[in-house]
Amino acid sequence: MAVSTVLTLWMCVVLFGQDCGEAPLNKRIVGGENATAGSWPWQVSLHFRTFGHICGGTLISNQWVLTAAHCIITKLGSAWTIYLGKETQSGPNVHEVSRKVSQVIVHPDYNNSYLNNDIALMKLSSVVSFTDYIKPICLAGNSSQFFNSTICWATGWGKLSNVSSTIPANLQEVRIPVIGNNQCACKYLAEEDANITDSMICAGQENKGACQGDSGGPLQCKQGSKWVQAGITSFGVPCAREFPEVYARVSEFKTWITQQVAGANVEFVRFTSNGTDQDSSFVCGVNEASTFTAELAFVVILVTVFLQHITVQ
Ligand SMILES: *[C@@H]1O[C@H](CO)[C@@H](O)[C@H](O)[C@H]1NC(C)=O
Ligand SMILES: *[C@@H]1O[C@H](CO)[C@@H](O)[C@H](O)[C@H]1NC(C)=O
Ligand SMILES: *[C@@H]1O[C@H](CO)[C@@H](O)[C@H](O)[C@H]1NC(C)=O
Ligand SMILES: *[C@@H]1O[C@H](CO)[C@@H](O)[C@H](O)[C@H]1NC(C)=O
Ligand SMILES: *[C@@H]1O[C@H](CO)[C@@H](O)[C@H](O)[C@H]1NC(C)=O
Ligand SMILES: *[C@@H]1O[C@H](CO)[C@@H](O)[C@H](O)[C@H]1NC(C)=O
Ligand SMILES: *[C@@H]1O[C@H](CO)[C@@H](O)[C@H](O)[C@H]1NC(C)=O
Repeated sequence: MAVSTVLTLWMCVVLFGQDCGEAPLNKRIVGGENATAGSWPWQVSLHFRTFGHICGGTLISNQWVLTAAHCIITKLGSAWTIYLGKETQSGPNVHEVSRKVSQVIVHPDYNNSYLNNDIALMKLSSVVSFTDYIKPICLAGNSSQFFNSTICWATGWGKLSNVSSTIPANLQEVRIPVIGNNQCACKYLAEEDANITDSMICAGQENKGACQGDSGGPLQCKQGSKWVQAGITSFGVPCAREFPEVYARVSEFKTWITQQVAGANVEFVRFTSNGTDQDSSFVCGVNEASTFTAELAFVVILVTVFLQHITVQ
C-alpha cells in the first residue's frame, strides 16, 4: 500500500508535474549585471547565418522557442541556429547545445509598421533534454495581472549603452518594474508610429531596460518558485531615460500559441497581483505626457545594423 502510493505520486509528478519556470541555479535577488550560469535556463540566442547573435528567445517546451516577429528576417529554417544553455557569446559554453530550425511561424497580424503582435515561434529541428541549464519557462496565462510596479527581470545580450557598438559577451540581467499601460501610453503619446495596445506590456525605469534588453528575449516575473514570462522584448526609444520599453504581452497570445504548437507541452500559469492597480486610476496629464518625439526602434541592436547588409529572403 505504502509503496504503491509513493509510486503513484511519483508518476503523477513525472507525468503531470508543472516543470516550467524552475531555475535551481538562479540565486539573484537584487542587482543587475552579468547573469550567472543557469540563472535563466530558458534564455536562447538566435544566430543568423554567419552574423552571430541577432536576437534572444525563450524555450517554452522541449521543441519550441518563442521570440519576436521582427527578429524573423527570414523564415528559412536553415538560416538559423538556436543556442540553448549559452552563457557567453565568446568563449566556451560547457552547458550549451544547439539546434537548427525546422519551422518558423510569425503571427499573422504582425504588422511591421505598426509594431503590434510582435510574436513568433520557432520549432527546433529535434527535441532538447532539460538540464539545470536548459529548461522551459512558464508563459503568462490569460487574465494574468501585472499591476504597475510589479518587479520583473529582462535578460539578453543587448548592448549596455546607446553609445557602445558591440554586444556584451555575457548574458545580462536587469531588474525593472512594470509600467501600467495607461502611464506607458501617456509617455508614448507623441509617437505617431506606435500606440500602446492591450497586446503590449511596458516595463523599465531610468537608465535601466531598453539598451540592456534584447529583442525576442523575455520579460519574466517570479510567482512562488516559478518564473513566468510576461513579455517579449519588442521596441522602445533606445536608451531614452524617460521611456519604458515595450514588450508583446504574452498572456494575450495564449490561444494562438496553443494552436500553433499543437500538442506540445507548453505550460501557462496565471500570474496575479495583489491590491489594486494604481495604473487604473492614472490620468495622462500635461506633466506626465512626453511631448518630444523620439525615434522608435526595435530594441535590437544587431538586427538594425545587419539589415542594411542582408538580402531578406
Ligand atoms: C499595416 O497596417 C496598416 C494600417 O492598417 C496598413 O496600411 C499597412 O498596409 C499594413 N502593413 C502591412 C505590412 O501589413
Ligand atoms: C482562459 O483560459 C481558460 C482555460 O484555458 C479558458 O477556459 C477561458 O475561456 C480563457 N479565457 C479567455 C478570456 O480567453
Ligand atoms: C507605476 O510604477 C512606477 C515604477 O514603480 C512608478 O514610478 C509610478 O509612479 C507608478 N505609477 C502610478 C500611476 O502609480
Ligand atoms: C562580466 O563578464 C565579463 C566577461 O564576460 C567580464 O569582463 C566583466 O568583468 C564581468 N563584470 C562583472 C561586473 O562581473
Ligand atoms: C494611434 O492612434 C491615433 C489616434 O487614435 C491614430 O491617429 C493613429 O493612426 C494610431 N497609430 C497607429 C500606429 O496605430
Ligand atoms: C545616448 O543617450 C544619452 C542619454 O540619454 C543622450 O544624451 C545621447 O545623445 C545618446 N547618444 C546617442 C548616440 O544616441
Ligand atoms: C500577494 O498575496 C499573497 C497572499 O496574501 C502573498 O502570499 C504574496 O506574497 C503576495 N504577493 C506580493 C507580490 O505581495
